[in-house]
Amino acid sequence: MRVGVLTGGGDCPGLNAVIRAVVRQGVKTHGFEFVGFRDGWKGPLEGLTMELGIKECRGILPRGGTILGSSRTNPFKIDDGVERIQANLASSGVDALVAIGGEDTLGVATKLADLGVHVVGVPKTIDNDLSGTDFTFGFDTAVNIATEAIDRLHTTAESHHRVLVVEVMGRHAGWIALHSGIAGGASAVLIPEQPFDIEAVCAHVETRFQTQYAPIIVVSEGAVPAEGGDMTVTSGELDAFGHVRLGGIGDRLAREIEQRTGKEARAVVLGHIQRGGTPTAFDRWLATRFGLQAIDAVADGDFGKMVALRGTDIIRVPLSEGTAQLKLVSPKEYAEAAVFFG
Ligand code: F6P
Repeated sequence: MRVGVLTGGGDCPGLNAVIRAVVRQGVKTHGFEFVGFRDGWKGPLEGLTMELGIKECRGILPRGGTILGSSRTNPFKIDDGVERIQANLASSGVDALVAIGGEDTLGVATKLADLGVHVVGVPKTIDNDLSGTDFTFGFDTAVNIATEAIDRLHTTAESHHRVLVVEVMGRHAGWIALHSGIAGGASAVLIPEQPFDIEAVCAHVETRFQTQYAPIIVVSEGAVPAEGGDMTVTSGELDAFGHVRLGGIGDRLAREIEQRTGKEARAVVLGHIQRGGTPTAFDRWLATRFGLQAIDAVADGDFGKMVALRGTDIIRVPLSEGTAQLKLVSPKEYAEAAVFFG
């Protein structure tokens, strides 16, 4: 069998570990041949391919990014997009596809599977917001990077008696903010799921200063104030899946805290630092296991499925189930963090 592999959406530490495991298991156990499609769905859409075998996968396990490249191309938004993909898969002799991506890439995979394309999905996102799997790889790396940043910011904030606002990624879900905020001992964690009260945030800032300790506020890029108004920040630009580009809430929040409390406040935006570089051991382990199981699903002809982590087991769930809804932070989980605010 000839199998195509692609990585779509925002890159994520661990993508190369999945590719390596898919290829290694596919060649050694199942005798498959592989072709790499470049830049997400753009690859099969435009026939952009690269060689992919054990040789191409040597040394990539600890490398961030993806050797295949990525994009946010949506073939369903392009005239004849689906027909072009089907034609290119046929002309490159590809019998099945392994699509590694988040809600958007796997959303396309779901629709293609419904149209009869042989596809198996592997969930990926640093945001950890895909339902159907306990964790996505890349998340642990992002949380560790954010936690290290918070640890470092504590000492400088304390020396200068400043407030430091740390903006982390998380468009719809506050998992990175929640985990790194708890691990880093934040004075407040602000997430998209729970609109925040700026007065309460300022009260946490004051309390922290009263105990001679500098406040660190961790805020997801998608967090919004309860009162609405002009603290909601977007650039207005939309990607091919209709998502606005976020960013700027950290700066806006720092200014507001400074005005309301009279304490100096600065913002740090971690941005793509959270997505780049080498994956943690956990993410390499999870990505490797996802890759092994995904190619086994291909070998079983079990298409239209996504691999998922449940407890310590890797299982297969229908692609449609894995992408049906976002996994959000519950009020109960948020309340656990709130004990430490102030
Ligand atoms: O979906 C993953 C993610 O990193 C989000 O947290 C973030 O909003 C988005 O991607 C940023 O995407 P881009 O790098 O395309 O601006």
